[in-house]
Amino acid sequence: MKILADSLGPEQTYKLLTGIVVPRPIAWITTVSPAGLVNVAPFSCYTIVSNKPPMIGVNIGRKAGVRKDTASNLLCSEEFVVNIADETLLEPLHRSAGEYPPEISEAQLLDLETVPGESMPVPRLAAAPISLECRLHSVTPYGDTGAEFFVGEIRVLHIRDGLLNNGKIDTTLLRPICRIAGPNYAMLGKVVTLQPVSQTPKTVL
Ligand SMILES: Cc1cc2nc3c(=O)[nH]c(=O)nc-3n(C[C@H](O)[C@H](O)[C@H](O)COP(=O)(O)O)c2cc1C
Repeated sequence: MKILADSLGPEQTYKLLTGIVVPRPIAWITTVSPAGLVNVAPFSCYTIVSNKPPMIGVNIGRKAGVRKDTASNLLCSEEFVVNIADETLLEPLHRSAGEYPPEISEAQLLDLETVPGESMPVPRLAAAPISLECRLHSVTPYGDTGAEFFVGEIRVLHIRDGLLNNGKIDTTLLRPICRIAGPNYAMLGKVVTLQPVSQTPKTVL
């Protein structure tokens, strides 16, 4: 089957791409609203964009042309925290995607305990095994739907004791969750280890 991209509308493209770009990691983002409420929402269009300084990027769409709470809070405060959920947090993570108005704090609604930020007023989620405190670096709009790619520079990494081994995260202990198309998630399956392929050290700039 062949599909010409020009023939696709935004909903069809979304359905196709979210089934093609899989599995996706999930940034469970905390931000603070101008009224001081802690907003929590999951975003799976998310990736690493730089090693030095460490930077991540997340694509945030709009609801009927209006910015999502995460995006507007982020533009106001220029600070956010990317929390990484493990398998035990799947249910509240999924529920935090509900379209609640800005006056509702998903942290309060879902009874998610928060811990004050180290480098910023935005708190992290106490139950998350990893949290990254990020400062907004740039925002780039893409396409016709008002989607924006937010890049943040990581200032502080919080990693639960026992997860870090020799400078690497033990993924099997982390037990991350990922998103596939629709309300479907997947857990870490079989891990296959191959001979490392020699790579130029990242310290060579
Ligand atoms: C697992 C998961 C991943 C999601 N990924 C994205 C994403 O990458 N970009 C996006 O705009 N919305 C994404 N959403 C939808 C938002 O979470 C949803 O629109 C939410 O209501 C936004 O909340 P906010 O208005 O409090 O920011 C995702 C939803 C789920 C359940």
